[in-house]
Amino acid sequence: MSRKTLVTCGLPYANGPAHIGHLRTYIPADIFVRSLRKQGRDTVFVCGSDAHGTPIVINAEELGITPSELVEKYHDHFDQVFKSLDIIFDEFGSTESQTNHNRTIDIVNRLIDNDHVFLKSIELAYCPTCGRFLPDRYVEGTCPDCGATARGDECDQGCGKHLEPGEILEPVCKICRSKAEYRVQEHFFFRLSDFKDFLSDHLDKLEGTLNARNYALGWINNELNDWCITRNLEWGVRFPDHEELVVYVWVDAPIGYISFTEDWANRHGIDWKEYWMNPGGDTDIIHFIGGDIIYHHCIFWPAMLKGAGYTLPRAVVASGMVKIGDKTFSKSRGYVVWVNDDYLDKGFHPDLLRYYLASYTSHTKELNFSWKIFQEKVNNELVGTLGNFIYRTSLFAYKNFGAVPDGEIDPEVVKTIEDAKNSVIESFNEYEFKKGIDAAMSLASFGNSYFQSNEPWKSIKTDAPGAKKTIRNCLHIVKALAILFEPAMPKLASEAWRQLGMESDSELSNTPYDEVTVEIKAGQTLLKPSMLFTKIEDSKIAEMERSLDDRVLMATKKKHVSFEEFSELDIRIGTIVQAEPIKKSKKLLKLMVDLGETKARQIVAGIAETHNPDDLVGRQVAVLANMKPAKLFGVESRGMILAADHDGAILLSPERKVRAGTCVR
Ligand code: 2FM
Ligand code: ZN
Repeated sequence: MSRKTLVTCGLPYANGPAHIGHLRTYIPADIFVRSLRKQGRDTVFVCGSDAHGTPIVINAEELGITPSELVEKYHDHFDQVFKSLDIIFDEFGSTESQTNHNRTIDIVNRLIDNDHVFLKSIELAYCPTCGRFLPDRYVEGTCPDCGATARGDECDQGCGKHLEPGEILEPVCKICRSKAEYRVQEHFFFRLSDFKDFLSDHLDKLEGTLNARNYALGWINNELNDWCITRNLEWGVRFPDHEELVVYVWVDAPIGYISFTEDWANRHGIDWKEYWMNPGGDTDIIHFIGGDIIYHHCIFWPAMLKGAGYTLPRAVVASGMVKIGDKTFSKSRGYVVWVNDDYLDKGFHPDLLRYYLASYTSHTKELNFSWKIFQEKVNNELVGTLGNFIYRTSLFAYKNFGAVPDGEIDPEVVKTIEDAKNSVIESFNEYEFKKGIDAAMSLASFGNSYFQSNEPWKSIKTDAPGAKKTIRNCLHIVKALAILFEPAMPKLASEAWRQLGMESDSELSNTPYDEVTVEIKAGQTLLKPSMLFTKIEDSKIAEMERSLDDRVLMATKKKHVSFEEFSELDIRIGTIVQAEPIKKSKKLLKLMVDLGETKARQIVAGIAETHNPDDLVGRQVAVLANMKPAKLFGVESRGMILAADHDGAILLSPERKVRAGTCVR
């Protein structure tokens, strides 16, 4: 019997609407699954909402609703968005389901029984004003590694490192902004350090994209810290026998992959254990994830599965990040494209976005989304090449013959289709989605040249059998194109299939790749063709760009201030008299700045990546002198250097040299 495949997608937090950053993972995964099925592989595709974690609790608190209400709302939202984009999961569950609670408890108990869990006293951030411990994103502060502003569980603006509870420096309560203090509390830890050899072996064998494997191998070469797996929260999966604790969201979230398989299998009378409790069995588990959660999927997750005796994944496929108009994706700064508001509700066809996201660049590279490029890709590739070939063929055939004419299929056509098919299959199997789509597109280009060079519009008058032959060959190519493009653009490919009159025989999604070589039936009735792709007008793109610009502008808009309020800022010109790096910090420099006072001021500035300390001495800069003193990386800073923020810091200097301490108004 052939092997079975289980494909999973990283679970979206049920905490806000879907944006195209999400789709970068889900669309290729859906293409991959459709492509496996076209090869006759038995494939299951699961995903669901990630319902737990502090951001959901904080967000619900701010909205005055329960976490459960918030999760339900966004669960339904993601379910709808995925369906609208033809991303069709066999199961779209939630980590809040009873099945997931039960499965999590089972796995945690196994880890405890196998002696992989221990209790340890640690210092945790505690807010004296709110009177509570501050897990994960309830606390903000400074990353101990790179000095960037970070949140409790991750250095999200700096080096990206996962932070363990108690690691963050200068903790501040996210709810009331009070300075937090550290208090001792007991928590449960997973002995990750025991798994170093296992992980090294596992990663050596791990398939998928190289970025996942290589990042993870880099991490295990350093020390693996034991992992705190409990949190002081009400919302989540309770830790066995400890009512006051829940498990960390990154424990129960990937377990969702198992519980969703369980729910799906139970509905179909299948044993879920064949997928998850059958190491060495005939199932391949493949995880599609975003490049930001490689650590969780290549380190925590396999160690947990191994420790509890479950089946390990065969491959991890990690997608690159998405940029918007060449700017780093950022919801707070307005660099975001929402799937409903900015795309589907504006009347764009879902398949166009599927095509863009899968064919813009290779899966692991950074992808830039811009409305201009979107327009170019649609107008040149889809309208100009694919649409043009399909429409001119179908229209000519329909008008002149009304059915598929007869005529021999050219060996050259057979070979070109066969080559395209092989290249599509091979590329998709290797997670090279762009390459696969490009291969299918080359077949459309070939079709265009075939049509052009055989000139059926001429031969129909002089050599009717010749014209018929040309058109049958072209229709045969259209049929192959429908099959090869179905994984990437299921709706539009199905429409092409329908217009060919193929639908009565079989549904396109169930049609295997091998059907590309089955000759299109002469005599088959053709339907009146309509254009599958239409050009996107400049005015539409201008409207979309304006709306993105407006959002960015809104996001950066600050409130008006009075002159009195402005006067409270003590901005002065200072002369840098000394500059040196700060140990262990990649970003920060320690400066001594003469502000016309008796002693130079010590100021820490995040300019180490853009400025060499030696070049700074003697330079005049603008300084906010009454910035509240703060400690960065343990170094006191009494002021802030002002700079223009453009891909790094660009320092502001006076037009000509002035006395140190001169006021700026
Ligand atoms: O990073 C995220 O968006 C998480 N919600 C992904 C979870 S994937 C999995 F492991 F469950
Ligand atoms: Zn507080």
